[in-house]
Amino acid sequence: MSLKGRVTVVTGGARGIGLALARGAAELGSDIAVIDVLEKPSEAFGDFEKELGVRARYYRFVPLSGTSVTDPTGLTGSFETIVKDFGQIDNCVTAAGIVHDKPFLDTTWEEGAHILEVNVMGTMMSAQLAAKQMRAQKTGGSIVMIASVSAGTALQTQRLNIYAASKGAVKSLCVQLAVELAPLGIRVNTVSPGFIATEMTKGLAVTRPELLAVFKSPPLGRIGDRADLKGVVGYLLSDAAAYTTGTDVLVTGGVHAGLL
Ligand SMILES: NC(=O)c1ccc[n+]([C@@H]2O[C@H](COP(=O)([O-])OP(=O)(O)OC[C@H]3O[C@@H](n4cnc5c(N)ncnc54)[C@H](O)[C@@H]3O)[C@@H](O)[C@H]2O)c1
Repeated sequence: MSLKGRVTVVTGGARGIGLALARGAAELGSDIAVIDVLEKPSEAFGDFEKELGVRARYYRFVPLSGTSVTDPTGLTGSFETIVKDFGQIDNCVTAAGIVHDKPFLDTTWEEGAHILEVNVMGTMMSAQLAAKQMRAQKTGGSIVMIASVSAGTALQTQRLNIYAASKGAVKSLCVQLAVELAPLGIRVNTVSPGFIATEMTKGLAVTRPELLAVFKSPPLGRIGDRADLKGVVGYLLSDAAAYTTGTDVLVTGGVHAGLL
């Protein structure tokens, strides 16, 4: 499971799950390029170079619209700069995403379109830019897209409607890309987390504190830690998963296996 000599791009890696996955790839020896909209990454990003001895750069992506990874020109520019800085792209993890927990009947067109734009179009565009570079290199590569347990399971306690649909789209995109990109030696898989303690889940619980109890109630008896996702994503990025593509891996503490 080594990623030595590889370059991994992580979207949404300034904090949360993306940051943990970037760290996981760095622990396996990969150089790291993080793309995010936040002004700067969490302090822990600095540890990658200091502690782990890999190269790590942060690319702040400021979309024209002010809100979305879906400014294709800007995102293309970020990937071009990464190739200039690192010389190659071997892996891509798409963790940039936003959530929506609001009754379906109150959800507006604009809110729905914004969720789809970031979670689906942003994922599509990032995967495409990474795959184009992998094709140019003729090296193949691995793409892991972060979906969600909500793509296949509805919880009575949440109103995830269009968010869940966006993650369903990410899973569908994965199986299509797995087949379309296989001749180029590019593997594509999704990881579907359950409840993971991040700013996203914290934000949801601010307006609905009753969710805190739900988040702690998976069969394994606790909310997930971001580090719970590192192993499976590292595996999917590495040659240990050379024969694995078009797969979704659920990491939920058992949420998807039982009823909440
Ligand atoms: N936390 C959970 O319980 C959970 C569960 C299932 C799936 N997920 C998914 O995991 C991914 C990461 O979520 P998280 O919990 O770490 O959330 P988070 O809010 O802590 O982190 C998301 C990161 O994505 C970045 N981002 C948002 N919009 C962006 C854009 N337009 N362009 C570039 N970067 C952007 C944010 O700035 C942030 O750094 C998301 O796709 C989310 O849907 C999270």
